[in-house]
Amino acid sequence: MTSLLVPQESVRGMKCLDRTAFTTTIELPFFKFDSVIYLKLLPILKKYFFKTRNFKPVQNTNNETVIYLNPTLIKTFEDFMETERNQLLEVYEQFGIMKVMLKYDNWQSYDILRAILPDEVEVPTSYSIIGHIVHLNLRETHLPYKTVIGQVYLDTIPFARTVVNKTTAIDTTFRNFTMEILVGDKDTVTTVKENGCTYELDFSQVYWNTRLGTEHRNLITFMKSNDVLYDVFAGVGPFAIPAARKGVKVFANDLNPESYKWLQKNIIINKVKTNIKSFNMDGREFLRTVFKADILSRRASNEDGTEHVIMNLPALAVEFLDVFFHSFKQNEIKQMCHRPPTIHVYCFVNASKKEDSCKLGQQMVEQKLNCTLSSDSLVDVHYVRNISVCKEMIRVSFLLTENLLKGEEPAMKKLRMENNIDIPVSDNIAENNGKEEEYTKGAKEQKCVQSSNNS
Ligand SMILES: C[S@@+](CC[C@H](N)C(=O)[O-])C[C@H]1O[C@@H](n2cnc3c(N)ncnc32)[C@H](O)[C@@H]1O
Repeated sequence: MTSLLVPQESVRGMKCLDRTAFTTTIELPFFKFDSVIYLKLLPILKKYFFKTRNFKPVQNTNNETVIYLNPTLIKTFEDFMETERNQLLEVYEQFGIMKVMLKYDNWQSYDILRAILPDEVEVPTSYSIIGHIVHLNLRETHLPYKTVIGQVYLDTIPFARTVVNKTTAIDTTFRNFTMEILVGDKDTVTTVKENGCTYELDFSQVYWNTRLGTEHRNLITFMKSNDVLYDVFAGVGPFAIPAARKGVKVFANDLNPESYKWLQKNIIINKVKTNIKSFNMDGREFLRTVFKADILSRRASNEDGTEHVIMNLPALAVEFLDVFFHSFKQNEIKQMCHRPPTIHVYCFVNASKKEDSCKLGQQMVEQKLNCTLSSDSLVDVHYVRNISVCKEMIRVSFLLTENLLKGEEPAMKKLRMENNIDIPVSDNIAENNGKEEEYTKGAKEQKCVQSSNNS
């Protein structure tokens, strides 16, 4: 809406919501028609309707219809185009200006907040809806108004019962964040639907991101009913459960006991118990034990189907790739890679507009694998979503081939330092064996080479 249609200036700076202060009278242009004769003029009139929350621009009373128009578009009859005027003249009973009372319930959330917040404070317009929870990500400048902002969203978003604000960036091991309940029920257990499945979860304890629904669906589309999925960082099950529904045999793991608890609940809710086994352990341990034992036993009994390993912990997943190098003896590598499993690993890359974030994601994975992914091993590099300015989420899917594990893939191409790809030495190196040390040493040397190249 334009400045003609805003709540009164007296609401500016309000920190405790007074809904009555939003009652105001405005002047709206209107047409009156006898009965339903206006219907044939709808194509002309529709674009001039006065549209706001809980307000019908077309109001029928007995034999009469009143149509309210947007005063920022039409002030006088002359504001219509000549052709429109000619058609309207034939049928309308009355054209005029009427005083109409608008209340709090008639304003859109943006108009209410724009009127309340100081001019220099941007209206927070982005939020996620997780079941009954509205999740805001407020900036410092919003914090003095956080309760009023929460209340406006609670009032204007259908089915909202709780409004929360993220109070820290996601940086905990379990990828959840500290949140503050701004207004509404103190209830963070909610139910969400995604890709035809239902998930119950405690949003304050586990990771859930509504923006990953398409990616969850895309990856499951790859899988067939006799495939196997090893979901290393499964969360509450948004890959694992739809895959199991499709008939895929699933091993789903998460280190967070709360994610594990809700994963088990969701397995029951979605009736996929027969196709999923769930685990609550560190991803490394899961790969070393559950993945290894199952894939080798599948090879021993010559079972059909493709194995998929999903590693969706984008901030850290590439750090877990070394496990594949350390966990298998030579003969086991041969056995497993006879039909190589597909690894789907997610990462975050820092990419400016000009840079190809997919290429950078691929390079990040190659750096960890210490090789260039050849056309034999690379399956797909997929842009998942934008995280923030210059930060993108990428999925790299590749086949875990024998050549790759034996270090016989082509040597890694020289890396581009602009992306500032770091090679953190894994914490788990303390647990390493000789071979692991070699791999890590290689990575460290590379880092030195890069630094000297860069200087
Ligand atoms: C980004 S979330 C992804 C969840 C789910 N796969 C999805 O797509 O929504 C990453 C998950 O990894 C779990 N996690 C973090 N560190 C882990 C580790 N070392 N081992 C296993 N799971 C871990 C977290 O608890 C979280 O549920």
